[in-house]
Amino acid sequence: MQLDIETYKRHAGRVSVQDIEFDAFRTRPLDLASLRCLRYMHDVEHHTICYLRDLLVTPAHRDPEMTAFLTMWTFEEFWHGEAIAAVLAAHDEPAGSPRIAPLRAALGWKDRIAPMVHGLGSALVGASYTAVHMTWGAVNEWTTQAGYARLAQRCGHPVLAEMLRRIMKQEGRHIDFYAAQATKRLNDNRRAQWLTRQALTRFWAPVGSDVMPEPEVRHMISFLFGGDDGKTMAARIDRRIDSLPGLAGLDLIENARLSLAGEGSDHRRERLDVLAADDHIAETPALATL
Ligand SMILES: [Fe+2]
Ligand SMILES: [Fe+2]
Repeated sequence: MQLDIETYKRHAGRVSVQDIEFDAFRTRPLDLASLRCLRYMHDVEHHTICYLRDLLVTPAHRDPEMTAFLTMWTFEEFWHGEAIAAVLAAHDEPAGSPRIAPLRAALGWKDRIAPMVHGLGSALVGASYTAVHMTWGAVNEWTTQAGYARLAQRCGHPVLAEMLRRIMKQEGRHIDFYAAQATKRLNDNRRAQWLTRQALTRFWAPVGSDVMPEPEVRHMISFLFGGDDGKTMAARIDRRIDSLPGLAGLDLIENARLSLAGEGSDHRRERLDVLAADDHIAETPALATL
């Protein structure tokens, strides 16, 4: 669904949690596995502003519709992080700045050079770079919303489920924007399609895996994307990716799920198969200019 930016500007805002009974967690706390997922989600929601930093050094910042969306998007994601922080605080867990500051301080050289990589990459590649970013954003928003849905289901806690339902509604608007932008920028653009396929296949990993410790990534994927329900959910997201112009057959989420949920796969071999197919396509004259 296309997101009308004027409508979004009117409706965007802080997720409503004033009536959420956070004290309910003191008498009925979450199970440890759900709480561990929430720590991850808290940290990644609060990291959104850093993802924005990497996007604004690209030509995306010249598009006023894009920057209007990104302004609202980071605001909403910030408050998702704050809502989850309130749940952590109700469990007497560190939340907000005391969690975020050490996380950012521990980020290494990859984080420090990320804006330069994106700035240089977009300067070399041109407008197709924005297609990669928008597609990347769509995939991350799809997986985030699905992860919240699965957590609401698995935690068995009505208070958390209600709060996540409200967050998911806002994630739905983010999906609408990113998916529409990705479709528009990939459509009839084989160069952008090839570049996006390469970027996703070679570099995509679940959102937050660039900043969170690997055991936390594995736990989150196992808990939320494991088993038959996780497989069904991954297949649904992969079908959505398939529907984007030129992106059919990546099996991105299923491959990541199998690789990280420890359910057995030759994840790397499947990725290399996809790349080999793409390299064959790239030999066509239409893509020789890349
Ligand atoms: Fe969010
Ligand atoms: Fe989002």
